[in-house]
Amino acid sequence: MIESYYKSQDKKFTLIQNDVLEVLPQFDFKFDMVFADPPYFLSNDGLTIKNGKISSVNKGEWDKSYGFDEINNFNRRWIYLIREKMKDDATIWISGTSHNIFSTGQTLIELGFKILNIITWEKTNPPPNFTCRYFTHSTEQIIWARKKANVPHFFNYELMKELNSGKQMKDVWELPAIAKWEKSCGKHPTQKPLSLLTRIILASTKDSAWIIDPFTGSSTTGIAANLSNRKFLGIDKEKEYLEISKARKMEIEDSFTAEKYRARISGFNNEEQLNSFLVREPVAEYKLEDTSLDEAFRKN
Ligand SMILES: C[S@@+](CC[C@H](N)C(=O)[O-])C[C@H]1O[C@@H](n2cnc3c(N)ncnc32)[C@H](O)[C@@H]1O
Repeated sequence: MIESYYKSQDKKFTLIQNDVLEVLPQFDFKFDMVFADPPYFLSNDGLTIKNGKISSVNKGEWDKSYGFDEINNFNRRWIYLIREKMKDDATIWISGTSHNIFSTGQTLIELGFKILNIITWEKTNPPPNFTCRYFTHSTEQIIWARKKANVPHFFNYELMKELNSGKQMKDVWELPAIAKWEKSCGKHPTQKPLSLLTRIILASTKDSAWIIDPFTGSSTTGIAANLSNRKFLGIDKEKEYLEISKARKMEIEDSFTAEKYRARISGFNNEEQLNSFLVREPVAEYKLEDTSLDEAFRKN
C-alpha cells in the first residue's frame, strides 16, 4: 500500500514523498494531464543576480548536473513511467531551459508522443545578466505534447481566444515571474507562478480532471488545479517542500483566501474573468469517483 504524505479533507489534493522513479511503478491510475517541472540540472556553481545582489544559481543537490548522459537517462526513465499513468487522450507539459529541454524533447519524440506546441514563457521581470556576455535570459520553454499521435487531445481553444481579447492565443506568453504573495507559506527555489499554471490547466483540461505533477516542489500545479476545480496528485522527494505544499493547500481551504488568490492570478483581461469563467464552465461529462485514487494506492 502506498502511504500518502498528505491528503486533504476534500480529497482533491494528495502528496506522496518518494523518488518518482520508485513510486510511479507502484500504482495503476490514469490521469488527464501531467505537468512536470523536472530538475533543470543547472546547479553548476554559476552566478546570477537576486534582489540586486550577486548570488549562486545553485538550487540544491537534486539539481546538480552529472553530465548529459545522466540527464538523458533520468529523463528517459521518468517520462517512460509517467506515460503509463496517462489516459490515451491525456497531454503532458514539461518546462525547462537549454540545460534540459533538448533532452526532454528528444525523449518525448522517441517515446511516440506528438509535440503540440513549444510555449515560450517570456518573463516580464527577468534578473539582469551581470556578465554582459549574453542576451538577458528572460524566457523558459514549456513543451506541450499528447500521448498518442492518433488520439485527439482536449484544447480549450475558445477560452484561450477569449482571454486574448478575441484573437488566437500565440505560443509566446508574457507573464511575470513569481510574486511575493505566492510565497506566503515558505520558499521553494524554483517555484512557478500560479498565473502560468492556471493558464496551462485551463487550456488543456476540463472541470474535475485529474492532474499529476511528478516533481511537485511547493505544488503550484496543485494549488492552481484546486483553484480551478481540478484534482491533484503531487510527488516530491523532499519533505521540506511537501510541508510548503501542504501549507499552501490549507491556506486555500479558507474560501476568502482562495477568492483573493483567484483575483490576483494574472494573464486574464480583467480580474473577474477567471472567476466568471470558473462559475460558468460546463461540468465535465466524466467524473471519476474520489475514492479511485485510494483504491489504486491500496492495490499495489
Ligand atoms: C524544479 S522543482 C519544481 C518546482 C515546482 N514546480 C513549484 O512550483 O514549486 C523540482 C522538484 O523536483 C524534486 N525532485 C528532484 N528529483 C526528484 C525525484 N527523482 N523524485 C521526486 N522528486 C524529485 C525536487 O525536490 C524539487 O522540489
